[in-house]
Amino acid sequence: MSKRGKFIVFEGIDGSGKSTISKLLFEKLNEHTGNVYKTFEPTDSPIGSVIRNILNRRIVSDDKTIAALFLADRLDHIQNKQTGILQFLEKETHVVCDRYYYSSYAYHVPPLAMDWVIDANKICAELLRPDIVFFLDISVEVSMERLNKSRAFKDIFETKEKISRVRSNYMEAIEKEGEKDNVVIIDATQSVEKVLEDVWQQVLQLNDLRLNG
Ligand code: TYD
Repeated sequence: MSKRGKFIVFEGIDGSGKSTISKLLFEKLNEHTGNVYKTFEPTDSPIGSVIRNILNRRIVSDDKTIAALFLADRLDHIQNKQTGILQFLEKETHVVCDRYYYSSYAYHVPPLAMDWVIDANKICAELLRPDIVFFLDISVEVSMERLNKSRAFKDIFETKEKISRVRSNYMEAIEKEGEKDNVVIIDATQSVEKVLEDVWQQVLQLNDLRLNG
């Protein structure tokens, strides 16, 4: 296979620090290679904006339709000839992505069954498996504490239940699929500096990663 950029994914429950750490990794990798693209799902494409409009209740839909939209958004995110991840990797650009198909495994079960979501996403896995997935792990209690500091909740009980379900779905999905996608669980209750260092040490171990200097 010809040389390709690395595809690095971040996953985690609310408050896990995904956006902070993915941004810091992007900056660090960029310092070393000068050739990194940062992206996220749901994307800011037309399909992604339909999703956001559903999430913020401007458009009414249902859970199964939204799961299908996330899949369509991901397929476009992978393959789009101008903006897609594959064309960056082919140009040897590394790609750091906030959320990928593990978010679908975590957030769409129920109403969908885990195996259904995994099967539906096989089309994405066949097109593009991550070189590494970082699952930034915190407990439900730490998530609640961090969220309580940053946002006001309407219904704390419902939120706690939802976060617990998402976390256990992540764990189940990692058990089922984690080896294929090189999922690495990182203790994200540590300081930002330590989490970044743990992530960086794993990135350095990726095969054929070429850094300047
Ligand atoms: P995001 O913008 O990453 O929000 P946050 O800052 O809360 O992480 O994601 C928006 C929501 O979309 C988030 O609640 C997770 C959800 N989501 C899914 O339900 N399925 C998916 O496949 C993806 C990628 C995200």
